[in-house]
This record gives sequence, C-alpha cells and structure tokens, in this order.
Amino acid sequence: VTTRIAVVVVAALAVLAPGARGLGRDDFPPGFFFGAATSAYQIEGAYLDDNKGLNNWDVFTHTQAERISDRRNGDVADDHYHRYTEDVEILHNLGVNSYRFSISWARILPRGRLGGVNSAGIAFYNRLINALLQKGIQPFVTLNHFDIPHELEIRYGGWLGVGIREEFGYYSDVCFKAFGDRVRFWTTFNEPNLFTRFQFMLGVYPPNRCSPPFGSCNSGDSRREPYTAAHNILLSHAAAVHNYKTNYQSKQGGSIGIVIAMKWYEPLTNSTEDVRAARRALAFEVDWFLDPIFFGEYPREMREILSSNLPTFTPEEKKLLQNKVDFIGINQYTAIYAKDCIYSPCALNTYEGNALVYTTGTAFSAYFVVPEGIESAVMYVNGRYKDTTIYITENGYSQHSDTNMEDLINDVERVNYLQGYLKYLSSAVRKGANVGGYFTWSLVDNFEWTFGYTIKFGLYHVDFDTQERIPKMSAKWYRDFLTGSSLLD
Ligand code: NOJ
Repeated sequence: VTTRIAVVVVAALAVLAPGARGLGRDDFPPGFFFGAATSAYQIEGAYLDDNKGLNNWDVFTHTQAERISDRRNGDVADDHYHRYTEDVEILHNLGVNSYRFSISWARILPRGRLGGVNSAGIAFYNRLINALLQKGIQPFVTLNHFDIPHELEIRYGGWLGVGIREEFGYYSDVCFKAFGDRVRFWTTFNEPNLFTRFQFMLGVYPPNRCSPPFGSCNSGDSRREPYTAAHNILLSHAAAVHNYKTNYQSKQGGSIGIVIAMKWYEPLTNSTEDVRAARRALAFEVDWFLDPIFFGEYPREMREILSSNLPTFTPEEKKLLQNKVDFIGINQYTAIYAKDCIYSPCALNTYEGNALVYTTGTAFSAYFVVPEGIESAVMYVNGRYKDTTIYITENGYSQHSDTNMEDLINDVERVNYLQGYLKYLSSAVRKGANVGGYFTWSLVDNFEWTFGYTIKFGLYHVDFDTQERIPKMSAKWYRDFLTGSSLLD
C-alpha cells in the first residue's frame, strides 16, 4: 500500500539563509537563465476565444466548483491572452533573459487530433514568442501543464488510455513544426509525478478518480491507475523526444527535457530505517519518472513494493525511453523529514514537537521554507543522472489572499525566500552541479488550481477587477538582483 511505502511527512527544518545579502548574478555561470514561470490555464483566460476547445480544467471548474477553494475558475484568470504584450513588457522590465510558459493543447487542437489544428491558436503563440524574442527573452516552452482537451478526457479517460499517446505525439509534432524555428527549449510534461497522483490517487484533479483509503471517491483504483497513467505519459514523452531528435533537432538546434516536482526528503534520524525511508520517498517521487528515461526501468524500490500494480516496459519501449533528454527540470519549493513506516510503527505528527526546530511556513501549510533543500535536491539529481543539465523550472513563495494589501505588496518573506534558495543553488553550482537556469514561480498572481485565487505566488500582484499588475517588493528585488537597478514603475 502506497501510504505505507515510505514515509510520514513529519516536519521541516528551515533556516533562513545566513548572509544571503550580496548574492548577485555573477555568482552563476555566464549564460545562466534567470526567468519567471507561468502556465496556460493559470493565466490566459479567454477560455472560449478564437475557437479554443474546452479542456479538462474548464469543465471541472464549471461542473464541480465546490472543489475549488473560492469556487472560481480560469475563464478570465489574468487575461494574459489579451494582455500578453504588457506581460512581456513586465518581464523585460524585470531583466529576465528567459520566460517559461505552457501551450494550451485545446487552443491548438480544440478536439484533439481528429478535429484539426486551430490556426488562431497557433497565431497567438506566434505573437507571444515573437514579442519575447524581440525583447531578447528566450521562450522556455512546456507542452503539457495539467490541461488536456476535454474531448480526450472523454475519449481515452485522459492519461489512463493508451490512445492518448498518439494524441500527444501529434500535438507535440504540430508545436515543433509551428514554433520550433524559434523555440530553443522544450519540455514535454510539467510535474507528471504530481498530477497523476492528484488525478488518480487522491482524485482532487480531473478526472477525479480514486479509491479508499487514498481519496474520498469511489471510482477507479488508486493502487494501480496513477502508475498506468504515468506509464502512458512516459511513453508519450519518449515518442515526442524521439520525434524531436530525429526530425527537428539538427535543423532547429533546440533541446528537450521534462519537468519533475521534487521535494527534498531528509531522514528524520540517522537510523538505517529512516535513511531508507528517505531513499524510498525519492524513488517514488523522482526516480519514478527519471529512472525509466535514463535507465529504461522503474526504480527497484517501486518494483519491489508495487509488484504487479506497476506496469513493465517491453525491450523496444526501453530503447525508445532512453532517447536521452537534454536536460531535467526540477520544481523545487520545499523539504520534509522522512520517517520509516514499514518497519516501525508511525503515528503522524509524533515527532513534530521535536522536529519543528526552525520552521517557517508559507501559505501552503505543507510548504516549509528550507533553502538548503535546493542544494541537496540538485546534488542528488546531478549525481544520479550523470551530470545532465538541470534547470530549476519553478521555485517560489506563496501568500494567502486574506493577507492585507500592504503585506501582500511588501513581501519581504518572499524576498528572503528567493535570496535563501538562490544562495544554496549557487552553492550547488560551486560544488560542480551542472545547472543551466532558474525560474521563479510566478510572474503574476494567478489561478492556483484547487486553491483558486486564494494562494498568491506572483512577483506582481494582480487586481483581478481591473487586471492591473502591481510590482511587489520581490519584483523590485529580482530586478535589482538581475540588473543592479530597482527602478520599476
Ligand atoms: C507547481 C505547478 O507546476 C504550478 O502550476 C503551481 O502553480 C505551482 N507549482 C505552485 O503550486
């Protein structure tokens, strides 16, 4: 049973980075990417404009509004679809040299492969990409960031159905063909290790399937389905990488990777059991996707614990999978202690009193501020996956919407957070880790999935009545860090 696999989330050790002041762009290699990140459903809005098809999140937020904290949705969001020029301008003002965003699959193929390509969708991303390049900002493009055309949810059961692999192959090919002459950085999937669990284990993301004791719904099979979905995603990823490498890369000169959500797990004690528990937690979170891509096989811990609930790869699939990615993206926000729950009894929170030594929380109660965790995470990936280039594709700090306006704008905690994490990232670089860039989540406050607009990650505050973007202290700090000047409107 997966809840017993590995760990109990006990608490976090957090220390604000000492002496972080004075850190600058020069502490990172030349050509390092510094950027900000967003995703299509979270910022674009315009959910019915220009022939866009409905996606799984459009339908979910409309039919099950009670599952979203503030019952709101991404119909309008930051209205980025109409305000992208202003958003490119604020990126330019920040001094970033790269911008991570995602393409809305349902804007490009409103009903999947059979419904044909929507030229208005292609035109929108052409405008965005060209506006970025004009300002010297490299587009860093995600093909799938949680949203899929609703039609594919119906037809295949989303990622559960084998047929969706061909759909993703077609979609990614359309994007390489349309945008690859200008896009140098592609990622296939954002956080498939998180969303498959949210969709098929906990049932909190569409299509909301789960079974007890994992989630409070009674459809599907939480013991099996997350792994079936992940298997389809891995093979979709592999086919897209193969296609890119065979047909586009030499002409277009870009690179391609995948993005994984990665907490750092620190053993609660140095007992062998807790050290192994931390190891298992990393296997189930990170190696789950990266081992097949690099070694053609799921990690040993998963194979042993899940046995027949974990699919297997054929020899041809193993070969296809190992079409090497050019880089690994890591979304790194937090760290927690791991305690063994297989060989010793575990009561949640038992150790909290002892372990919460220096904890500083964020608006997400489970997100502890642990700057040194980013160094450990990077060193782990760098070691296990043989010096492959790593991008920190997300890292950021959340505020709750019930915070007063003054504190929302004077977000000194976010400044401390970013400084602390960048300091430990620079330390990983000094230790020889191959890191190519860092993107903070997020450029603007936006739709935070099931938390709606109640959780704010932006460097820019957004007044959702007027759509005005207002720089927070962190935006000014980031600009200062990047350019040495903090003049922001
Ligand atoms: C993970 C996801 O990629 C992004 O969509 C989300 O908003 C942030 N992290 C914050 O939770």
